[in-house]
Amino acid sequence: MSGKIRVGLVGYGKAGRAVASVLADDSRFELRWALRRSASAVLQERDGINVIGIEQKPYAELFEEMPVDALVDFSSPLSIHGYGEELRRRGITLVSAISSYSQGDLDYARALAADTRVLCSPNITLGINFLIVAAKLLRKIAPFADVEILEQHFREKPDISGTARKIAEVLDVDGERITSLRLGGIVGHHEVIFGFPHQTVRLTHESIRREAFGTGVAFALSQLVNFSNGFYTFEDILMRLASTELRDGKTGAG
Ligand SMILES: NC(=O)c1ccc[n+]([C@@H]2O[C@H](COP(=O)([O-])OP(=O)(O)OC[C@H]3O[C@@H](n4cnc5c(N)ncnc54)[C@H](OP(=O)(O)O)[C@@H]3O)[C@@H](O)[C@H]2O)c1
Repeated sequence: MSGKIRVGLVGYGKAGRAVASVLADDSRFELRWALRRSASAVLQERDGINVIGIEQKPYAELFEEMPVDALVDFSSPLSIHGYGEELRRRGITLVSAISSYSQGDLDYARALAADTRVLCSPNITLGINFLIVAAKLLRKIAPFADVEILEQHFREKPDISGTARKIAEVLDVDGERITSLRLGGIVGHHEVIFGFPHQTVRLTHESIRREAFGTGVAFALSQLVNFSNGFYTFEDILMRLASTELRDGKTGAG
């Protein structure tokens, strides 16, 4: 793909706005429009982003009038069923950040991937995904080390963090090994602690601002152009990059 990647954004709420601001400031992308539930007219917001209400234009019309190469979804699990067939027909790449897809929604996303590139990432920050890959590698190298997971969030957050549960799952450790602290206004802290007999390794990720979701989206979009049609996770992208780096490093050293 040459030139800028043209992007449409579905969902212009807390996360969507932060993502929009990152994409609008990145010269690799042209953010053509953002869609939300409630806009009653096409609004020109900062940096000329068109903010459109879902009632105003059916997806087919939107893609015809303002074509995009990729769609980024920060709205609700329902949306994919509204735009899916149009993406399939036009071969538009999908980056979906929706964290609450049902099994049926995920099956549908996988079915779309027969005709286009689909990335589904319930946690789309580069840092957490890197932490997961690094922790998986260390777990493989040192299965004898004790593992504990610590997550800290703002006082009102009710449940154990989904990200912490995901980390426990991929490391194959019991959910009992997760410690949750709720205090003050902490945005998000995840830590994986590996206890060895004579040393300790701590992998830590701190969330600072929602714009981190935008950095993750930009990274995914820029990498997906090198992938063929198919269903991917963020980890798949990082693993491909890591294996290329390791292989090339080895060749260079040899
Ligand atoms: N993967 C990740 O790392 C990550 C990070 C953050 C959030 N998320 C996910 O992103 C989604 C949004 O989170 P949020 O905190 O930004 O929520 P939010 O503030 O409630 O924003 C939701 C946005 O989506 C719009 N929307 C809802 N249903 C829609 C539909 N059917 N079609 C088009 N637009 C629709 C809403 O329109 P109105 O503005 O008109 O209400 C709003 O702009 C959630 O599913 C959340 O799990 C994922």
